[in-house]
Amino acid sequence: MQEKVEKIKSELLADIEQVKTLQDIVELKAKYIGKSGVITELTKNMKDLSVEERKEVGKLSNTLKDEVTNIINEKERSINDEILNAKLRSEVIDVSLPSTKIKVGAPNILEAVIEEVEEVFMSMGYDVVDGPEIEEDHYNFELLNIPKGHPARDAQDTFYLKDDEILLRSQTSPVQARTMLAGHGEVPIRMICPGKTYRRDDDDATHSHQFMQIEGLLVDKNVSLSDLKGTFDIVAKRLFGPDVETRFRPSYYQFTEPSVETDISCFACHGKGCSLCKNTGWITVSGAGMVHPNVLRNCGYDPEKWCGFAFGFGAERLAMLKYGINDLRTFYNTDLREVQAFDRLESE
Ligand code: DAH
Repeated sequence: MQEKVEKIKSELLADIEQVKTLQDIVELKAKYIGKSGVITELTKNMKDLSVEERKEVGKLSNTLKDEVTNIINEKERSINDEILNAKLRSEVIDVSLPSTKIKVGAPNILEAVIEEVEEVFMSMGYDVVDGPEIEEDHYNFELLNIPKGHPARDAQDTFYLKDDEILLRSQTSPVQARTMLAGHGEVPIRMICPGKTYRRDDDDATHSHQFMQIEGLLVDKNVSLSDLKGTFDIVAKRLFGPDVETRFRPSYYQFTEPSVETDISCFACHGKGCSLCKNTGWITVSGAGMVHPNVLRNCGYDPEKWCGFAFGFGAERLAMLKYGINDLRTFYNTDLREVQAFDRLESE
């Protein structure tokens, strides 16, 4: 028996030398300690032996099994180590290689300008509100004192979705009506609403079928045009610099009376005249005025008691002025080179 044990051991040591892969280990385990391995084989004829012999054979084969298992496990561990080391060697990172350039994004400049406007107005106690882009004729026109058939509608032709009643809003002004109706006659109302608007325009350098406006509305008592002027002064200075001045020119909108165009003094030439201001020294930035009594009434506010002002900026126009962009389509044609040029401007 002892001889057999020794023979198995020396055979195992010879076999172990040949082992190279984990598959070899599997085979080795099967050969020695598997169900029909050589060690099991040793104990096969136990029932023919005497009690003493059985004890002896049992003890020897158990010790042998432990020893063999240890030897094989040890080999398995060393093979696993080798595999791991080879993997680590092959995956080593060469830190001296040049890195791949990662493109860093930047805020969209149109969004950035809108956020700037929002911040100025929020600092003056205004809420930033939202309104639907799919709007009813009632809000987009009727409540704003533009009844069906009014010629002012011609300038705001838009996309109709259903029976001339549901449309893509042509202006953010319907949010004035929605805000007042939701206010149920309570004052003060101070809100701005940035959002998308649509018109049936052919796209060119200054027109787009889709563009952004920033609407504003204040309703309270004893509000005057000079409050509007003061408000614009603050906004213009914050957006375009402390030397910029504002002025009003008479205008006409159906939902304001009186109505004005608001200009800022040209921040590029300081009023001397240049290509940006078309040699006038002034740049128009928005339409505005005192809320028309009919609009107040339509929306549940007694015009004898309350008054207010409203205004509407073209957001792209503000961004174009601020960043020296001369084509409105720049914002929508997704040319990365242009976007990157503005990124650089932003970080300078
Ligand atoms: N909604 C006008 C437009 O799209 C802009 C405007 C003018 C808004 C005067 C106003 C306003 O609130 O008072 O042309």
